[in-house]
Amino acid sequence: MSYLQVQNISYSYEGKFPALSNISFDVEKGSCLCLAGANGSGKSTLLQIIAACIKPDAGDVCICNDAPPSPKKVSVLRDESARRKIGIVFQEPDNQLFMPTVWEDVAFAIMNKGCAMSEAKAKALNALRAVEAEHLAERPPYKLSGGEKQRAALASVLITFQNNDEHGILLIDEPTAYLDPRARKNFIQLLKKLSCTKIIATHDLDMALTISDEILFLNNGTLAARSPAPGLLSDEVFLQSIGLELPLSSPAPRRFEKLLGLPLCGSCSAIPISDHEPHQPHERIQK
Ligand SMILES: Nc1ncnc2c1ncn2[C@@H]1O[C@H](COP(=O)(O)OP(=O)(O)O)[C@@H](O)[C@H]1O
Ligand SMILES: [Mg+2]
Repeated sequence: MSYLQVQNISYSYEGKFPALSNISFDVEKGSCLCLAGANGSGKSTLLQIIAACIKPDAGDVCICNDAPPSPKKVSVLRDESARRKIGIVFQEPDNQLFMPTVWEDVAFAIMNKGCAMSEAKAKALNALRAVEAEHLAERPPYKLSGGEKQRAALASVLITFQNNDEHGILLIDEPTAYLDPRARKNFIQLLKKLSCTKIIATHDLDMALTISDEILFLNNGTLAARSPAPGLLSDEVFLQSIGLELPLSSPAPRRFEKLLGLPLCGSCSAIPISDHEPHQPHERIQK
């Protein structure tokens, strides 16, 4: 049974602005799933529904964390140990950093649950170490760079997993949106190292290519396709049909073919474009 199950989710803002329509998928424990889609396709809304920040109009999100497996609805979880398995990093890290120092921000959730300050600080420093940001502990969050804020916000989620990262589900919204190339590369490397299950909303298809096991493509609030990486990331016609472009690091032969106006030999087009094997099967969602 899959670790996370998203079942028939539909949602309209204020009951009149449709954002998501009948979205279903599941996520394996420890895997990395990218939610790809153009602006307004519903990625952020979907993440917030999975995190139970927004209640869907229809459908359920279930987490299956028991042995033997028994799925539980995230929206009605009362059990603290189950609830702390899902954490979200919002697109604007400023929205979740508000304390005078970084370590207090990271420790906020556990101090709120009654953890003593000295223990909370030790745990916050641990979480900051895990994201290679221990040196930021005493800094005021509002003075950090974009990349540093992302790390602080990530640490504030990791601390809630309570050293059980492999059971945690990290939801992260457009993590590379405000990062310069070097910070972006470093942050992607950091995300790759995390052992938790990851769901990443992004239109950065180059990141999706390097980091994801599987990609869900959203289009106008519907699920347009589901594909292992790289799969549809090399399908320019499909990507354009949902408002996206080929990733810059998409297969070199395709790009050269286009530039030169010449087809290259068949063997060239089998060159893998990432750590993943090319030409894996994918599934278009039938309308
Ligand atoms: N607070 C809101 N009130 C009304 N409509 C919203 C709100 N937030 C998002 N939407 C709408 O919901 C749709 C999906 O938005 P969003 O989930 O932010 O997409 P994405 O993250 O893919 O850019 C869009 O049409 C957007 O305009
Ligand atoms: Mg968004």
